[in-house]
Amino acid sequence: MRRNAEILIGAQWGDEGKGRVVDALAGQSDVIVRYQGGANAGHTVIVGGEEYVFHILPSGMLYTGKLCIIGNGVVIDPEQLLSELQGLQQEGKDRARLLISRDAHVVFPYHKTLDGADEVFRGKEHVIGTTKRGIGPCYVDKYNRTGITMGDLTNPDVLREKLSRNLKKVNLLLARIYSLNPLPFDTMYQNALEVGTKLAPYLGDASLEVNKALGEGKKVLLEGAQGTLLDVDFGTYPYVTSSNPTAAGACIGTGVGPTKIDRVIGVVKAYCTRVGEGPFPTEDCGEEGEGLRQKGGEYGATTGRPRRCGWLDMVALRYAVRVNGMDSIALTKLDVLSGQKEIRVALKYLVDGEEMCEFIPSASVLEKVEPVYTLLPGWDEDISKCRSFEELPKAAREYVSFIEEVSGVPVQMIGVGPGREETIFRDL
Ligand code: IMP
Repeated sequence: MRRNAEILIGAQWGDEGKGRVVDALAGQSDVIVRYQGGANAGHTVIVGGEEYVFHILPSGMLYTGKLCIIGNGVVIDPEQLLSELQGLQQEGKDRARLLISRDAHVVFPYHKTLDGADEVFRGKEHVIGTTKRGIGPCYVDKYNRTGITMGDLTNPDVLREKLSRNLKKVNLLLARIYSLNPLPFDTMYQNALEVGTKLAPYLGDASLEVNKALGEGKKVLLEGAQGTLLDVDFGTYPYVTSSNPTAAGACIGTGVGPTKIDRVIGVVKAYCTRVGEGPFPTEDCGEEGEGLRQKGGEYGATTGRPRRCGWLDMVALRYAVRVNGMDSIALTKLDVLSGQKEIRVALKYLVDGEEMCEFIPSASVLEKVEPVYTLLPGWDEDISKCRSFEELPKAAREYVSFIEEVSGVPVQMIGVGPGREETIFRDL
């Protein structure tokens, strides 16, 4: 049964297939809201064999009559947003109405420069492997109370004052710390004003609109980006992103109170992947991991980087259930496991010979753990045509039931292929 306000989060390290799940659920929603992150995300949606990758637009944009909102918690690269929007407009596929929070912060070119420079400065040993989309530096400005909002782009005087103040400091940093050339003010200011003018018709009060919709009994889907284990508070710090992809972030990033939330859906890939650096206890650097990468097409939708691949980690998943209050699972890419003789699943870790059953996200702890695997039987059948749970081969059903049992959360949706229709719904 579809409830009114639902949050959809990634339960692993991002790239769980949230875009396809949002797309599958958007048909039953009235409003779809992005609440954190920025163009570091890459939400892939495949409709009628055609692939769309949304970096900043909500994944509901292809549906006629929906309201798609970019909430205050998102950091927006306005040029990227405009080009994504214009791309859809040119194809006549911007079917939803778009509203952008005027309080969302703007990613400027200097944020991207700083993102890259910071990575070099960290050195090989401590590099995070960011997407270099300026996400971290933009959130730094926000929390340092020097950020520039989307609303500011429509006020030339305010923009001039804030941008010149920020650029003065950035250029000092670039010259004195990073030995890089300064960035010129004029072009950046003119470009920002120009995109601000083009995006002005879409700006508004996102929190007001979402709450109004909820008050009218409309169905709202809050779409998380990245994943729980990349959360700045709950992820494998410091190898995380700079926002809160966990469920609580949805309330902050949209201005919807926690009492309004009816359900938290966690998107879980049937195995695990990670892009960028940081601990990954169940990573498989051997042939089987490579097999998952090839079969699952595990290359970053934003950066094209090959994703690190490995096995489902139930220690981490139970943690994700806890910190998100997850009460429903959407399991994706189950079809990728077809043909796997046996499927490995980590149920606990060993650290210095001692058992560890609770996930401790700190990178320094996780780097030392060794997963203890259980082997489950695989299946050979192509499952992409299955449309009900009962049609799945016995071993696939058992794999799903095992996940439910260990996580304590029902699997209510199963992805058996990349397309919109390749989905099994179980009472969702
Ligand atoms: P940032 O978000 O660009 O600062 O990158 C921080 C970390 O999060 C890096 O390891 C990135 O690879 C990872 N990351 C950021 N966005 C995504 C995403 O959408 N999917 C998967 N990983 C991501």
